[in-house]
Amino acid sequence: MSYQDSLTPEAVVTGLMSRVFGRRDYFYYREIDSTNNRALELAADGYPEGTVVVAETQTAGRGRRGRTWYSPPRHGLYLSVILRPQLPVREIPRVSLVIGVAVAETLEAAFQLPARIKWPNDILINNRKIAGVLSEVVTGSQGIDCIVTGIGLNINNPLQDFPGDLRTAPTSVLAEKETPVSRVRVLQELLMHLETRYYQLLEGNFNGILDKGKSLSTIIGKEVEYDSQNGPAIGQAVDIDDNGFLLVKDKWGKIHTVTSGEVYLSSPREGGKGD
Ligand code: BTN
Repeated sequence: MSYQDSLTPEAVVTGLMSRVFGRRDYFYYREIDSTNNRALELAADGYPEGTVVVAETQTAGRGRRGRTWYSPPRHGLYLSVILRPQLPVREIPRVSLVIGVAVAETLEAAFQLPARIKWPNDILINNRKIAGVLSEVVTGSQGIDCIVTGIGLNINNPLQDFPGDLRTAPTSVLAEKETPVSRVRVLQELLMHLETRYYQLLEGNFNGILDKGKSLSTIIGKEVEYDSQNGPAIGQAVDIDDNGFLLVKDKWGKIHTVTSGEVYLSSPREGGKGD
């Protein structure tokens, strides 16, 4: 069986289970530089929350920390969603947790895959990366103007196709399930989970998301290397706080709040450069 389904509006929008996300404004590209770039343009033009940009391939897919995102045609999902949460800027990491939980739930619900979240935003299956999230925030005088959340999800990628120099070993739904799957279905499920969890956040129910995020965390209880104010440091990841920040305990027992950056399990050390 081979799935080469396309993500055209005709294929995706009629079967959506979401009420808002992707329903009214769904932008589809066979090829684009980056769906995040396009979504940022659309957000600047005033497009509303729930606007979705999808591409079959990206020529300049962007990862976190200036890395590139491997985006071969029709194998993965590359999408960006415009969000306009009325939240204080300090609560932005809550949105990251919402996205991580929604992606993990999608993989669990659709394929019974044991997806876990590596704070802040990597989605792993058995320590191999299946999805990454790049959220870009535009702020104005009133606080958050918009957040463009870009999600890259490896679906029908054969393992041997991935570049050899990725920082974290990759995987895909194909590699895990040993069968190609419908990207249309994954996209529809993902938009539904994203919308459900996002509105849960807006309705003030972050605690349920936080509990789920903690239960899916790959690093709580483990020794990690993190970016401290004084450079790389090592400590034990102990919790995620009410804002979605990671709490790390150093060897003297002092708790540090990690607000951004990358976290690595300190043993074994992950190597490589791309993502
Ligand atoms: C990471 O793990 O480094 C984040 C990867 C995010 C990739 C997605 S693919 C869709 C969207 N458009 C981009 O250019 N990047 C994000």
